[in-house]
Amino acid sequence: MSDAALPAQASHEADILSALGARSIVLVGMMGVGKSTIGRRLAARLKLPFVDADTEIEAAAGMTIPEIFERHGEQHFRDGEVRVIARLLEGGPVVLATGGGAFMREETRSRIAAKAISIWLKADPDVIMRRVRRRADRPLLQTADPEGTVTRLLTEREPVYGKADLTIASREVPHDKIVEESIEALHEYLCGEQPAPPPPQADVASAVR
Ligand code: S3P
Repeated sequence: MSDAALPAQASHEADILSALGARSIVLVGMMGVGKSTIGRRLAARLKLPFVDADTEIEAAAGMTIPEIFERHGEQHFRDGEVRVIARLLEGGPVVLATGGGAFMREETRSRIAAKAISIWLKADPDVIMRRVRRRADRPLLQTADPEGTVTRLLTEREPVYGKADLTIASREVPHDKIVEESIEALHEYLCGEQPAPPPPQADVASAVR
């Protein structure tokens, strides 16, 4: 089949892969926004390996994240997180889902900027709360007021997540829609296909004058 006969979407994926080179795609954002679910599907679409930083940290430590927090404390977990993400970024291209606090570390952010394209999956607090309530394996939310904790963390973190290269709204729609939007955004960002939007009407009028 010639390139001209390929569906537009398949060629989008091929374009993204060739523009990426050895760089990875890194998903960042708060707990419960769907980084692993979307990441796994995005990886399948791009035919890239999917890696989950939290799973890799657990494998490296030989214990679960709640156990790491309980036995060694958050700081120890964060230090391990920096090292594991650095290692995973050396093995690109992959699609990498990071834990919600990972992008807060300057060192990790600059490493991601150098070796990857970052996507912030951004969700509303009520969507996050609904999703995180289903699981009890997030040590940071084992507080008397998990909702208040989510609100506080979002206030601290959203300005930092906003430094990601791309932002995609994660919401209650089929996962494949979010994946599709991610593919579109990556293609536009990496391959610059979209022409610059035309100037607003008022500008056109003044330019003609
Ligand atoms: C954390 C998020 C978790 C995990 C750890 C800390 C955070 O990952 O890394 O519990 O600081 O937001 P998910 O974002 O995958 O839940």
